[in-house]
Amino acid sequence: MSKYDEIYRQSIDDPETFWGNAAEDLHWHKKWDRVLDPDAKPVPRWFVGGEINTCYNAVDRHADSPIGDQAAIIYDSPVTDSKQVISYKELQQRVARFAGVLKNHGAKKGDRVIIYMPMIPEAAIAMLACARLGVIHSVVFGGFAANELATRIDDAKPDIIVSASCGIEPGRIVEYKPLLDEAIERARHKVGCSILKARKQTPANMIEGRDFDWDQEEQNSEPADCVPVAATDPLYILYTSGTTGQPKGIIRDNGGHAVAMLWSMKNIYDTNAGDVYWAASDVGWVVGHSYIVYAPLLKGCTTVLYEGKPVGTPDPGAFWRVISEHKVKTLFTAPTAFRAIKKEDPNGDYIHPYNLDCLQALFLAGERCDPDTLFWARDKLDIPVVDHWWQTETGWAIAANPLGIEPLPVKAGSPTVAMPGYEVRILSDEGEEMPAGAMGNIVIKLPMPPACLPGLWGNEQRFIDTYLSRYPGYYLTGDAGYQDDDDYLWIMSRTDDVINVAGHRLSTGQMEEVLSGHPDIAECAVIGVADELKGQLPLGLLVLKAGVDRAQQEIVHELVQRVREQIGPVAAFKQAGIIARLPKTRSGKILRGTMVKIANGEDWNMPATIDDPAILDEINEALKSLGYAG
Ligand code: COA
Ligand code: AMP
Repeated sequence: MSKYDEIYRQSIDDPETFWGNAAEDLHWHKKWDRVLDPDAKPVPRWFVGGEINTCYNAVDRHADSPIGDQAAIIYDSPVTDSKQVISYKELQQRVARFAGVLKNHGAKKGDRVIIYMPMIPEAAIAMLACARLGVIHSVVFGGFAANELATRIDDAKPDIIVSASCGIEPGRIVEYKPLLDEAIERARHKVGCSILKARKQTPANMIEGRDFDWDQEEQNSEPADCVPVAATDPLYILYTSGTTGQPKGIIRDNGGHAVAMLWSMKNIYDTNAGDVYWAASDVGWVVGHSYIVYAPLLKGCTTVLYEGKPVGTPDPGAFWRVISEHKVKTLFTAPTAFRAIKKEDPNGDYIHPYNLDCLQALFLAGERCDPDTLFWARDKLDIPVVDHWWQTETGWAIAANPLGIEPLPVKAGSPTVAMPGYEVRILSDEGEEMPAGAMGNIVIKLPMPPACLPGLWGNEQRFIDTYLSRYPGYYLTGDAGYQDDDDYLWIMSRTDDVINVAGHRLSTGQMEEVLSGHPDIAECAVIGVADELKGQLPLGLLVLKAGVDRAQQEIVHELVQRVREQIGPVAAFKQAGIIARLPKTRSGKILRGTMVKIANGEDWNMPATIDDPAILDEINEALKSLGYAG
């Protein structure tokens, strides 16, 4: 039996001992009564009766230890040409003072604070300050539009929003303040306080009595202490795309999360206290929550917070500069970042000027890792490249190659094997277990390991309906794939409307809702078509209302703008075609899957239930005229 097999088996056979032991590495204000409550509804809960503070474990514990002067955060921002190193001691002071600011504005345990910020240290400080007070944070990615922010305000009902005057994208400044004002204006839930970090690139137009300046507030506040919270209390809510325009508020608890984060650093990433860990993502995504902020700090690592892109800031050598300059040991990013680098620098010439001896491993996640990208990275960097599979819902890897336990043989295209605590099964639509090699719905047997979502904010029924009802006793991942004879997992596609654009999770259903709101649109479908750089791109197929005779180009332009304004630039919705009708089944279901296959030039079969087969010829032609295979 391999070391991995042994550890995995322990986690499944005796989860209480396994995770109970892992939890001993943290500081608990009160020890748990039970490691696992298997009868909790709707899902089992971890560390019931325990009290903990995540910020204490991530910051104070290290600040007051021999690593207090070690860098906790290295901020590296090629877009502003600035860098900053914050030690654990300094981080403790800044977080405690900002917690004081939040407290002065009335924030207390269980309240919500929305954080809408670019990649600056204050984003992490705000998250940790919330955790310090037991306040639940909800970070909203900066690439979302005001409307999306408003939806989250109405769902999370925060008392305070923390933001900044602007974000910086290559070639343009994204002014956050007008977006923030518009979102507050649009939301039905009224937010009475916002705290803004003024950046020198753009001043913010402050509203007297509602908007407060971060720097002034921080200077004038008293440090606030850590507040112990129940292990099962929420640490944060992170919204993610589902099938409709209403995003799902994934809840993360404090205790289980801290335990899984800490465990994963050594065992999956082979990273120890003192090592420099860099997740090149954004704090607005789950990767940013878990591996820019919480896990590396819980472990006592130095985390790199990078405000830039893999290419263009200034060139495809950007990652190599950061790695060599800050002695990064472990890099984590999305395959799309490597595809972008490879496209601009296929021979890896930009690597040569830098000494990358410090770099021990590259981890990729967020979307399927195509073998070409994996081989390119491995060839150019000469280090292990690990594809691992997870979701916002789980908070950490469901499947990975656990380098810290033992490196397993790599099969390109597979994220390797299930991580401890995850009993992964492949089920047919009827709920039968599929044999090795056969595709099916990927599910996880309950209980899921610590850190996985215990629910959706304010909507337990949606949690049950979306994830738990389809196969009682199992969590439905929404991914389809198979397990091979060696128990390696192969994640092939989503079973819902979610598409993955540059590692960003987006809902085509949500885009359809936005397009349908346009007065000229009778009906529409948005499909995710294959894209060499971003993995997938959304493509709109639109049917106009009878009698609309405006220039089609003009309508398409308006629709592109509409998605950008209502969802945000991150949706990357730039292409749409007008067609006479949509292909449907006899019961009226749009045949999106068939259109995707046609667009991608894949083999497809005429669906037996199609209403009128002739429509597919029209679709073929329309897709060809848009530049797709047809
Ligand atoms: N604030 C405001 N706008 C943002 C934003 C932010 N934080 N992040 C992205 N956007 C905008 C971009 O500027 C772009 O706008 P545009 O249409 O005006 O050009 C749009 O949203 C789409 O962004 P993106 O999909 O990131 O494409 P890109 O062309 O700017 O960059 C990559 C492509 C591959 C370089 C980029 O996607 C990347 O670095 N990916 C790394 C992977 C990653 O971070 N994944 C997250 C999960 S791990
Ligand atoms: P997110 O919640 O944004 O992290 O997106 C999660 C989804 O991204 C998963 O359900 C998968 O569809 C996809 N995904 C993430 N990582 C991988 C991977 N390594 N291989 C295949 N798909 C992945």
